[in-house]
Amino acid sequence: MVSQSAASTSTPSELSTPINKTAHEFDKPTLDALLARRFFFAPAFEIYGGVAGLYDYGPTGSALQANILDQWRKHYIIEEDMLELDTTIMTLSEVLKTSGHVDKFADWMVKDVQTGEIFRADHLVEAVIEARLKGDKEARGVKHEEPEKEEDEKKKKKKKNVKSVAIKLEDSVVEEYESLLAQIDNYTGPQLGELVRKHNIRNPTTGNELSEPVEFNLMFESNIGPTGQIKGYLRPETAQGHFVNFARLLEFNNGKVPFASAQIGRSFRNEIAPRQGLLRVREFTMAEIEHYVDPLDKRHARFNEVKDVQLTLLPKDVQTEGRTELTQMTVGDAVAKKIVDNETLGYFLGRTQLFLEKIGIDPKRLRCRQHMANEMAHYAADCWDFEIQSSYGWIECVGCADRSAYDLTVHSVRTKQPLRVQQKLDEPKKVEKLDVQFDAKKFGMTFKKDATLIKETLLGLEKDKLQCIKDELANGKSSVKCADGKSYEITPDLVKIDPITVTEHMREFTPNVIEPSFGIGRILYSLLEHSYWAREQDKARGVLSLPSIVAPMKCLIVTISQDPELRAKIHEISRKMRRIGIASRVDDSSASIGKKYARNDELGTPFGCTVDFASIKNDTMTLRERDSTNQLIGKIDDVIEVVDQLVKGTIDWSGASQRLEPYSGVQDVEE
Ligand code: ATP
Ligand code: GLY
Repeated sequence: MVSQSAASTSTPSELSTPINKTAHEFDKPTLDALLARRFFFAPAFEIYGGVAGLYDYGPTGSALQANILDQWRKHYIIEEDMLELDTTIMTLSEVLKTSGHVDKFADWMVKDVQTGEIFRADHLVEAVIEARLKGDKEARGVKHEEPEKEEDEKKKKKKKNVKSVAIKLEDSVVEEYESLLAQIDNYTGPQLGELVRKHNIRNPTTGNELSEPVEFNLMFESNIGPTGQIKGYLRPETAQGHFVNFARLLEFNNGKVPFASAQIGRSFRNEIAPRQGLLRVREFTMAEIEHYVDPLDKRHARFNEVKDVQLTLLPKDVQTEGRTELTQMTVGDAVAKKIVDNETLGYFLGRTQLFLEKIGIDPKRLRCRQHMANEMAHYAADCWDFEIQSSYGWIECVGCADRSAYDLTVHSVRTKQPLRVQQKLDEPKKVEKLDVQFDAKKFGMTFKKDATLIKETLLGLEKDKLQCIKDELANGKSSVKCADGKSYEITPDLVKIDPITVTEHMREFTPNVIEPSFGIGRILYSLLEHSYWAREQDKARGVLSLPSIVAPMKCLIVTISQDPELRAKIHEISRKMRRIGIASRVDDSSASIGKKYARNDELGTPFGCTVDFASIKNDTMTLRERDSTNQLIGKIDDVIEVVDQLVKGTIDWSGASQRLEPYSGVQDVEE
């Protein structure tokens, strides 16, 4: 056994105490203080008073974000052989007009009719109704702590200015309110207006009446060029940059689907009411995947690899019935039971569950919630959100949407570029089709400038949609929904749809797009909450148990004294570590070792190496594990090798314990 006599870096009590991460209740103000003190992030332009919804990341936050993104690139781009992109943030307005964002990327806001104060309509209704239900509970003497009411906490915090007053409600009103809340994401603007009137919802601070909800577009508008002649927007998602490059991507992939493009980059949304720190900001990093798949075959070649992954599901019909209970199910079962629409969507749900768990999100505080009909983005056919629970409640952090052929179709129609896949058939095939014929003159006169759009939309429809239109036309009229968001009525004298048989040598189709879209800031913040705890013996000694793959710094290197020889040694060790890519940090301050460890526990640094006089004599050092504070000892080069493997995840602490000797020297150095 290697001996190191002079000092230990643990207290006896640390060595004998099993880890208890729940000794203290989660304390948000203490975590917030830690995050500010250790500069994970801070309000942008703080010395000028700051701007709501804009944050800067400091050295620790930046390193944590970079490591999350590095894992994301490995988990998706490298592992799945995706085509990476880096497209412009400044986006031509025409692109976003075509995608529907100019007309529809909006939230509903209401105004205090007297003071002009602005609220996001759904959030205000939610907060007021929540407060009334809470007041009812108080009046009935019910403690407001049932686990199924976690949502209540979220909403209470969302709207700090909405206070509950202990007033008992009729049972039927309670029921109505509860059902309203379960569907809060599903209301249209006019419906929110009705709720405001029906339930007499007012500005909680002034008591004044509110205006009818009006739409507020969330995009930041800009002008390109010195005369501002070209209109642009800061992109609200990275996705459109993928779609406008689809033809090149397809060619790069030898004309074959399925394949995926991926992009990490900034997006911008002029949120009506930014709040909740990093969770609702106006500029944020997204990581988005657009997976292009044959609409007739949404199987996934690697589905078997994720079919046993457990998901916690909240399907849409449960929510529309006003309920919120969760169901545990494997990806395989969810797809087999058609709860999740198809294998490809299921595959990405499974992969995303694995990714979030790998970077340290607590699976018990992770659920997949399906969007209800009205809640879905204008382009989506089905959508599941990964929601992570934090002190703010359940917050969407990853949206997994089936965008169908929407985006490629609208860009193709607008630009007349064929954003379609051509597949040579093995054998020519007789195909029953529906042939669409137009009375060109009448059609042109009826629809004028919209005629081309309507015509191309009809020609681009899949057979089952055309069949519905044909059936409706047989009854006198039908309608066609176009990329401009409008529905146009058509009649049999304008359009005829007849079955025909054709021999095809090629098959041509517009791929469907399955899109997992990650908000990195929301994941990062949730991870910080899930990782935070305080040592049992001292509530103020906060620890961030970040997995080493994402921890900002991997190893702390310290000496037991200020001796020049020891100080030189730790710098030499640090150089060695850095040379092999271990992000290590020397702390050669005069603080006690206990204090140095505590400081690095706060940064989430998973390992600590300590040298003392025995290190000089025996060429040894100790290795400390952050959560357990257990220590091992070995030759310096062996310890460095072990740290390298720990950081890469090729061994865990028990693997390290087989490579190095246990160390239990005693000296109380903690402060
Ligand atoms: P919300 O309903 O919370 O406004 P959203 O439905 O608009 O979110 P998406 O449009 O699906 O969100 O965006 C994809 C991802 O981008 C989200 O899952 C989230 O992680 C992130 N995101 C969206 N808006 C913001 C924001 N204002 N601040 C931080 N992250 C955001
Ligand atoms: N690209 C997905 C979204 O912005 O919602």
